[in-house]
Amino acid sequence: MRLNDCHNVEDFRRLAKWRLPWPVFDYIDGGADDEITKARNTAAYADCDLVPNVLAGMADIDSSVTILGRRSALPLILSPTALQRIFHWQGERAVARAADAFGLWFGISSLSTVSIEDIAAIVSGPKLFQFYYHKDRGLNRSMIERCKAAKFDAIALTVDTIVSGKRERCARSGFTSPPRFTLSSALSYAIKPRWALDYLFRDSFALPNLDTHVREGTDKAVSVADYINGMLDPSIDWKMAQQLREDWGGTFCLKGIMSVADARRAVEIGADAIMLSNHGGRQLDGSRAPFDHLPEIVDAVGGQIEIICDGGIRRGTHVLKALAAGADCASGGRFYLYALAAAGQAGVERAIGLLKDEIERGMHLLGVKSLDQLDRSHLRWRD
Ligand code: FNR
Repeated sequence: MRLNDCHNVEDFRRLAKWRLPWPVFDYIDGGADDEITKARNTAAYADCDLVPNVLAGMADIDSSVTILGRRSALPLILSPTALQRIFHWQGERAVARAADAFGLWFGISSLSTVSIEDIAAIVSGPKLFQFYYHKDRGLNRSMIERCKAAKFDAIALTVDTIVSGKRERCARSGFTSPPRFTLSSALSYAIKPRWALDYLFRDSFALPNLDTHVREGTDKAVSVADYINGMLDPSIDWKMAQQLREDWGGTFCLKGIMSVADARRAVEIGADAIMLSNHGGRQLDGSRAPFDHLPEIVDAVGGQIEIICDGGIRRGTHVLKALAAGADCASGGRFYLYALAAAGQAGVERAIGLLKDEIERGMHLLGVKSLDQLDRSHLRWRD
């Protein structure tokens, strides 16, 4: 199977599985506990049907939106995800360049393997920094100052990860950051020599947003669960989130809001956007799917704050359903991570291109010329 054989996200997933050592693939693909939420995030879209209008004179369509104060060519953000250098040697640079080529927002994680400054140097398009609130206040201050200096367009504070979800696939494989080559994991790496050679002989692994302050995850191998449980501050509350928003002073998003009560508090503290998200089913298993919950959130705070529906996106029609239900934009991680692992920047570009085609085709077939024409009249939920 090669890149040109990939015609949808599931094809990229298969190719990624073929190319990656299984501990790495399972880190990307896995969720928490029984992975019920991870599956539901995508299944929720299949439980809702589209109702098209025809004969609408569809010569031209416009698939762009304004989100977080910047124009985006598609209503789709590439969500921030950690450790991309482990998935492909081009890492975050590949994702940043692909997003930039399509005029899309993308995010880098606090745990990104390319620095805030290096990302800013290679892209001119809209970019956000995902903020993990660490116990080390000096590290928190340093990340904010670096984002300001590098002129990032927004930060997203992740609020659903004060302790790690129970990711059982990672517990079984012993996946660590950076990968530890033990006797038991050696076989999984040895049978993927192309990945292993790229990992060993291309740019070396680093976590440059953190390594001025902490060794964990950079030159001291730890599991992601141990990193989260040891380094992040579970005492974070609304006051601290508001203070962070003020210290940053720019466009501010809360990532991982699910309840109406929390969405209202996000409005109160002056956040510009919420990402309705359960972290791709990697944290609280059994948590509701963002798309299932979206109408409730839209009815409560729509128009007062931007709503980004995050996770489970595998098709262009999923994006259109989220917008029809009232989201301002959709976002996701695995749809581009499988492609990154499969083929680097070329893979991510192909994955975005396929979703762009699907979004535009879907708009034509639904009879909507611009995305603001989508509303709940285009949807029917099955019982
Ligand atoms: C993530 N996600 C994530 N979120 C975050 O706030 N900080 C992070 O460092 C990461 N890292 C990360 C790694 C991997 C491998 C995945 C798959 C996800 C969550 C991510 O931003 C997004 O919420 C989910 O990916 C959405 O679900 P889908 O689109 O992957 O189904």
